[in-house]
Amino acid sequence: SGTYTNIKVEKVGEKKNVTLIQLNRPKALNALCDGLIKDLNHALDEAEADSTIGAVVLTGSERAFAAGADIKEMQAMENFSAVYNSDFSLSWNRITNCKKPVLAAVNGFALGGGCELAMMCDIIYAGEKAQFGQPEITLGTIPGAGGTQRLTHAIGKSKAMEMILTGNRMSAQEAEKAGLVSKVFPPDQLVSEAVKTAEKMASFSKTIVTICKECVNASYNMTLTEGLHLEKRFFHATFSTHDRQEGMTAFVEKRAPDFKDC
Ligand code: CAA
Repeated sequence: SGTYTNIKVEKVGEKKNVTLIQLNRPKALNALCDGLIKDLNHALDEAEADSTIGAVVLTGSERAFAAGADIKEMQAMENFSAVYNSDFSLSWNRITNCKKPVLAAVNGFALGGGCELAMMCDIIYAGEKAQFGQPEITLGTIPGAGGTQRLTHAIGKSKAMEMILTGNRMSAQEAEKAGLVSKVFPPDQLVSEAVKTAEKMASFSKTIVTICKECVNASYNMTLTEGLHLEKRFFHATFSTHDRQEGMTAFVEKRAPDFKDC
C-alpha cells in the first residue's frame, strides 16, 4: 500500500483482513480538503482490489472524525460557476460504491462533510463523546454531500430539519437512539470494537456480502415493489454460487463453512 499525506492506512485484525483508514490532518481537525479525499479514494481503490481484504474501518482521531469540508478551500471559490465547474464534493461518493463493507468509527466531531462522510459508510459506530452536526447553515450554505437526504433517511424529518436548520449538534447517545449510529463505545475501545465487527463481516463470502450491500443500498432508491423484486432475484442468484452450497452443506454437516468468495 502507498504512503499518504492526509491519511494512515494499515491492515489489521487477526487475519490482517481489514483495512483501517485513519484520517490524519490533526491541525485542521481532519477537514476534508481535496488532497485528503484523493488519498481516501486511492486507499479505497486499493482495499477493493486486494483479495485478502474483507472490510474497511474508517476513523479519525479522538478529537475529530472530520470537522467538515475544508472551509479555507471553499472560501476561495468565488461564485457558483467556480464550485459548479469543479464538481465540488462529487468525488466524495467513491465510498458509497465500495464493494466491501465500510464501517465508520466516529470519535469527536463529525460535522458537515464529516457527518456526511460517516453517513456514506455502511455502519456507524460512535465513541461516547462523538458529536454529529450539519452546521452549514452557520456558514451561509447547505449540506452539499448528502446531508439533507441521508440524515433525513436516518433519523426522520423532524430531527433532521432541526439539526440542519439550527446547526445544533447531536450527541453519540442521541444519535444511537435516533438510529444514526448502531452502537456507542468508550472512546478508547471504539476502533478495536469496529475492527472486531469488520473481521466478522470479512469472514463471510465476499460475493454474498457485496450482494447484501447492493440490496440494502437499493432500498434508498427504489419503491418497495422494485426493491423486493431485486432482492428476490439476487436471493435466487446466490443459489448458483459455491458459497451458498458450501454454507448450507456445512450447516447440515455440523461443521464450519469454507467460503471461496465465488
Ligand atoms: N475547514 C478548515 N479548517 C478547519 C475546519 C474546517 N471545516 N474545522 C476546523 N478547522 C481548523 C481551524 O480553522 C483551526 O485551524 P487554525 O488553528 O489554523 O486556526 C483548527 O482546525 C482547529 O479548530 P478550532 O480552533 O476551531 O478548534 P475548536 O476546538 O475551537 O472548535 C470546531 C472545533 C467546533 C469543530 C470548529 O473548528 C468548527 O466549528 N469547525 C467548522 C465546522 C463546520 O462548520 N463544518 C462544516 C463545513 S461546510 C461543509 O462541510 C460543506 C459540505 O457539506 C460539503
